[in-house]
Amino acid sequence: MTYTSSTVRVPDVSAVPRHIAIIMDGNGRWATQRRLPRVAGHTRGLDAVRSAVDACARRGVEYLTLFAFSSENWRRPVDEVSFLMRLFVTALEREIGKLHANGIRLRVVGDLSMFDKKIQDLITRAETKTAKNTRLTLTIAANYGGRWDIMQATRKLVEESVAAGSPVEVNENAFAQHLAMAYAPEPDLFIRTGGEQRISNFLLWQLAYTEFYFTDTYWPDFDADALGRAIASYTERERRFGRTSAQLEPQSQNADSLPC
Ligand code: IPE
Ligand code: IPE
Ligand code: MG
Repeated sequence: MTYTSSTVRVPDVSAVPRHIAIIMDGNGRWATQRRLPRVAGHTRGLDAVRSAVDACARRGVEYLTLFAFSSENWRRPVDEVSFLMRLFVTALEREIGKLHANGIRLRVVGDLSMFDKKIQDLITRAETKTAKNTRLTLTIAANYGGRWDIMQATRKLVEESVAAGSPVEVNENAFAQHLAMAYAPEPDLFIRTGGEQRISNFLLWQLAYTEFYFTDTYWPDFDADALGRAIASYTERERRFGRTSAQLEPQSQNADSLPC
């Protein structure tokens, strides 16, 4: 199944967002506020991940994408980076059985070549085990960067052209099919916790027409009710995709494709 780009064709919009993408921010500040070491916030952040996955599955969200480690997070102190790697390993080892039992498919996107072989093997095993699950696709973005994604998709198109001996056709849909998350529709709702209002190199291409929701709540405090408020805010939005409000009335004829 491939999805059409939202700038080529107006996508179907449902009351419950099909795809929610979250920048889970504020773990460090959550801990500092309690005079705890920053890493205590990451541990509590994992509890919030469990609760978000559970709440999304119950609400019928089809895709949940969580930004766990950005391509720029290597710039952090080496102790914090090692702690995050160990937490990732523990989570992969301990949570995969429960995810599988709950019908959740796990995908990990990012430049995984930078990770230890042990982490790469765990990822492959977890993805293979859960590959056929259909209730919710949980994507963890790890060593992910939106610019990396656009570059690797471009590289694949160039390699295909070299292999074919002439340039392959480049259009939005063909390009999007080479992005790391080609298996998912573009996010309907983007959430960033922790008070900052920036994308921090997350899904640069796919957020073109996504609804944005920012909250000051630190990620470890982001519970099922907080998720409910974000979804309620989304429900009130009018997603026009370039059209006028009048065109969204049921009786009006929607010009939903761009003229060629
Ligand atoms: C987000 O929380 C988790 C990661 C980036 C891994 P932070 O660690 O960025 O927390 P703050 O923003 O410093 O509070
Ligand atoms: C974004 O958070 C990355 C993740 C949540 C994994 P950061 O805390 O790294 O973002 P900046 O540095 O404040 O933009
Ligand atoms: Mg942060």
